Amino acid sequence: MSQVHVLDHPLIQHKLSLMRKTTTGPKEFRELLNEIAMLMAFEVTRDLPLKTIEIETPICRTQTKVIAGKKLAIVPILRAGLGMVDGIMNLVPTAKVGHIGLYRDPNTLEPVEYYCKLPSDAEEREILLVDPMLATGGSSSAAIGFLKKRNCFNIKLVCLIGAPEGVARIQKDHPDVDIFLAGLDDHLNDHGYIVPGLGDAGDRLFGTK
Ligand code: PRP
Ligand code: URA
Repeated sequence: MSQVHVLDHPLIQHKLSLMRKTTTGPKEFRELLNEIAMLMAFEVTRDLPLKTIEIETPICRTQTKVIAGKKLAIVPILRAGLGMVDGIMNLVPTAKVGHIGLYRDPNTLEPVEYYCKLPSDAEEREILLVDPMLATGGSSSAAIGFLKKRNCFNIKLVCLIGAPEGVARIQKDHPDVDIFLAGLDDHLNDHGYIVPGLGDAGDRLFGTK
């Protein structure tokens, strides 16, 4: 069963509360999302393997640790996932970025794929799949399915807010994928929106409504 990590650091909680407010405009919303994504990346990458190397300081030669093994790829689910990329790249600037384009059909709530471009060596990388909202879980589950079809099996799902329904869907469809959230909310409303949530993340990020 995939693990659910709710990253409830006070800075993350404070910034998430600001994002939820109706009065927060697109500029501040974008800044806060990137800041939270950066803070989350700190925890999400906690288990990256290290190796020991020898270096020379101005004082002496010494053994010290650097990141070893698998490299990272950040894969935002378009559109709203784009809002988390820069924040994570601040911490891991050598990560490659892939894109998966999905939108949720407003009537069926089913995800529709319209774009997929991944790094050529994606299957050798640890993938951080990012999307601010995990609502029914349909979009994230489908995106994980696309990644697995392309032989990417080392995947972590990083979302800002999750609904219990979305968490359960990922745990059922992809029990090998751990989920990282800044907040686990109460439920979905009749339109598939997270309650209390923050509304439509893509529209709030890009000012399209
Ligand atoms: C939103 C959000 C997720 C999806 C979550 O995207 O960014 O991708 O809905 O809902 P689900 O868990 O029920 O699938 P949306 O479809 O609104 O597209 P957008 O990012 O282009 O606005
Ligand atoms: N997509 C969003 O952007 N917000 C929600 O609450 C649910 C799906």
